[in-house]
Amino acid sequence: MTGQDLDNKHGAKAETVRHRLLFACLGNICRSPMAEGIFRRVAEEEGLAHLFDLDSAGMGDWHKGQAPDHRAQKAALARGVDISGQSARKVELEDFEEFDLILAMDGSNIADLEDIAPHGARHKIRRFLDFAPHVPEQDVPDPYYGGEAGFDHALDLIEAAAKGLFSELTQKDGGPSQS
Ligand code: 4NP
Repeated sequence: MTGQDLDNKHGAKAETVRHRLLFACLGNICRSPMAEGIFRRVAEEEGLAHLFDLDSAGMGDWHKGQAPDHRAQKAALARGVDISGQSARKVELEDFEEFDLILAMDGSNIADLEDIAPHGARHKIRRFLDFAPHVPEQDVPDPYYGGEAGFDHALDLIEAAAKGLFSELTQKDGGPSQS
């Protein structure tokens, strides 16, 4: 562990271990940008955003350089999260070096990530909803071809997983207890 102790809003001590998290989906314009934005808000609300390097990426580069889908922006903003500044990109080989965890939105993303992961980096690929064990779904459904309700449902799942992931990472560091 490195760095000094800081007080978070609970008054608990949290080591300044940085976590580098990459959220991944297929197109990087719907689910993973929402996941990045929601996770950032969770960390900000706990006063621990400085502990995280966050980014998102997709398996394809069809939307390279584009802002998130307007429906994703609208649904996230309705929950107080502005994701308009994000820009789509493809997952690159270097991401397996630069990030500690790559959080896949669905099983297809996991398979695609495992196909390109360098030897010894597969353990960094995690199913995002594994951090929300109380929700029955395993996959964040792709809302791209559906209506606005699909974005809200995706956000419900993403919020649950973001809180679970934040809790797991910060508790491991001696951060806030989630009693
Ligand atoms: P996402 O949704 O993976 O949640 O960003 C998609 C966005 C675009 C496409 C597929 C999924 N597409 O095929 O263009």
